[in-house]
Amino acid sequence: MKIEELISEAEIKERVKDCGKRISKMYEGKPLLLIGTLKGSFMFLADLSREITVPARIDFITAKSYRDGKNRSELEIKIDDSISFSDYDVIIVEDIVDTGHTLNAVTKLIREKNPRSLYVIALVNKPSGREIEYTPDECLFEVGDEFVVGYGLDMDEFGRNLPFIGAVH
Ligand code: IMP
Ligand code: MG
Repeated sequence: MKIEELISEAEIKERVKDCGKRISKMYEGKPLLLIGTLKGSFMFLADLSREITVPARIDFITAKSYRDGKNRSELEIKIDDSISFSDYDVIIVEDIVDTGHTLNAVTKLIREKNPRSLYVIALVNKPSGREIEYTPDECLFEVGDEFVVGYGLDMDEFGRNLPFIGAVH
């Protein structure tokens, strides 16, 4: 696997810090629940949550789009029924929006649980991959039509550990 760095560790740190600051202001005094989508968002959520000064609850859902390398097939979402979404201002924290199917389905599912409010943040946006119309409330970075790994993102489970985001060649 050859990886070309696109977004550096320092750039990620800066944007994540920024984002955390804004979220802290927006959610001051509110019951905040951060929902990460596994596995891709684990690193982003770990860093972002530490930049948020509001005490927050953290939970995860599993959104797995079975992929054979770069090709997506079926989508499976696992959500813990014990989470009382209606008591919280919820932020969905996702790694990347490509076709839009995953976040669209996740957003719909959580909205049905009537959270006090709902906000969606994606680390990376890949607008060229869209198959349906879906726009997160916030995206920290944008990439072209390349497949990217690092900072939680994988290709066949490899590369999640890298501290930067890079294109696979
Ligand atoms: P979507 O449903 O096509 O929007 O894709 C969402 C999921 O596909 C993400 O949560 C990722 O797990 C995966 N994915 C899409 N594009 C990439 C990529 O470039 N690198 C790594 N994972 C990706
Ligand atoms: Mg993912």
